[in-house]
Amino acid sequence: MAVERTLSIIKPDATARDITGKINAKFEGVSLRIVAQKRIRLTLAQAQAFYEVHAERSFYDELCEYMVSGPVVVQVLEGEDAISHHRDVMGATNPANAADETIRKEFGVTVQENSVHGSDSPETAAREIAFFFSQVEIAG
Ligand code: CMP
Repeated sequence: MAVERTLSIIKPDATARDITGKINAKFEGVSLRIVAQKRIRLTLAQAQAFYEVHAERSFYDELCEYMVSGPVVVQVLEGEDAISHHRDVMGATNPANAADETIRKEFGVTVQENSVHGSDSPETAAREIAFFFSQVEIAG
C-alpha cells in the first residue's frame, strides 16, 4: 500500500446539521489525516465544473443546485491507500445501501443529500485536489 491523498467534501446537508466534527472524527478514527481543509460557499459555476463528469446525468442540475444551497467543507485526506479507504468509510452512494458504521449510513439523508463526497481514482483525486487547493495550502 502507498500513501495517497484524496479530495473530500462535507456537503451542505451535513454542514447544516453541524456534524462536520463527527464526520472528521470518523476520518481521523481510521487514520485518514486531514492535511488541508476549508469551509467555502461554492458558486454554481464551480459546482457545475466540479461535477462536469455527471453533466449528462438526469440528476446533474439538481445536484449542482444542492451543492450551492449551503456551505461545504473541502478537504485533502492523506493516508495509506487513502482513496479506497476513504470510500469504504463513506459507504455506498445511496445511504439506503450503505453498510453499518459508515458515514452515509449514519448521517446520509438521500442519494443526493449523502453528506460526503470522495475521489474515486488517483487521476480524479489529482484533478479534484487541484480544483480546490494549491500546494502551499496542503500541510502533510
Ligand atoms: P458523489 O459521490 O458526490 O457523486 C455524485 C453525486 O451525485 C452523488 O454523490 C450524489 O450526491 C448525487 N446523486 C444524486 N442522485 C444520484 C443518483 N441517482 N446516483 C448517483 N449519485 C446521485
